[in-house]
Amino acid sequence: HEADAHRTDLMTITRYVLNEQSRYPESRGDFSILLSHIAGLAKLLGLAGETNVQGEEQKKLDVLSNEVFVKALISSGRTCILVSEEDEEATFVDPSLRGKYCVVFDPLDGSSNIDCGVSIGTVGFYFYTHNIFGIYMVKDKENVTIDDVLQPGKNMLAAGYCMYGSSCMLVLSTGSGVNGFTLDPSLGEFILTHPYIKIPKKGKIYSVNEGNAKNWDRPTTKCVYLFIQFPQIFLHSLFFRYVEKCKFPDDGSSPKSLRYVGSMVADVHRTLLYGGIFLYPSDKKSPDGKLRVLYEVFPMSFLMEQAGGQSFTGKQRALDLVPTKIHERSPIFLGSYDDVEEIKALYAAEE
Ligand code: AHG
Ligand code: MN
Ligand code: MN
Ligand code: MN
Repeated sequence: HEADAHRTDLMTITRYVLNEQSRYPESRGDFSILLSHIAGLAKLLGLAGETNVQGEEQKKLDVLSNEVFVKALISSGRTCILVSEEDEEATFVDPSLRGKYCVVFDPLDGSSNIDCGVSIGTVGFYFYTHNIFGIYMVKDKENVTIDDVLQPGKNMLAAGYCMYGSSCMLVLSTGSGVNGFTLDPSLGEFILTHPYIKIPKKGKIYSVNEGNAKNWDRPTTKCVYLFIQFPQIFLHSLFFRYVEKCKFPDDGSSPKSLRYVGSMVADVHRTLLYGGIFLYPSDKKSPDGKLRVLYEVFPMSFLMEQAGGQSFTGKQRALDLVPTKIHERSPIFLGSYDDVEEIKALYAAEE
């Protein structure tokens, strides 16, 4: 009897979203319907990962997950513009099915980690990939334009990601803190397992692809010509100096550990729970950085700030950035508040 009583007070994502809905009385439930569609999607992709997706393994999972997301979001009847990493152009939902939310998403994040021959002989099809999403309110439902998604990240109403690892987790913020839900396959529900996640104020981990170090290289001589002609090189050398400090601290503190999965969701999820800093700077190969502003940088920066951390582009607070193109990229340094303060001080000192 005791166990049953315990079971009935489980907080599921459906109940959580309905509770949250009371904060948006004008939303008439649209917001919660949209969020539960995304949660349902995550379930679908998560569970599908253990069954029929394996059969579809021949088809690029990026494309497959994108089709699933786009179809489900349109059929929710609550969206008006969709921006996906996998679609060159934004999708404008037909007026007959149009709602008032714009959704930007990366339907499958870290897809390079699938092709590395992840074992599919296990009971479940465990591949280490995920999706990321952000939700904006359209400015005028009768007159929907691309400007409705070229808003600064601070205007996002909600953001989150789903991580398919050893368990299927949905991490979500609707602007009042960050909550983590774990899929219970026996219930077919996401259960609140990580209420009000707060990132440690300082961490002992830095997370960056050290294989790009050559592209951060310092100018051999800090001559004026280089600085004027190629300011990014100067910023690369600052970044090089920050990473050196992580490895060879000059204040007698112990070096940080390096952890880098190569899937943003996995690296950000670990940073959120353990603390530390995740970094993807600009470099000679990617002068604007690699990560996409709308559906990678903004949602993760939104979550970081909601969890008490922060997110910086090398020039400004990431959420203040105003994108001009839907697939725009930006350098990003996000994580524990104090760790990001350190890199901000380094960049500020050189201005
Ligand atoms: P996606 O699979 O959606 O294209 O994203 C891949 C991104 C991100 O997940 C990760 O942080 C980054 O690529 C890793 O890039 P490197 O392999 O250059 O380190
Ligand atoms: Mn991605
Ligand atoms: Mn992707
Ligand atoms: Mn990709």
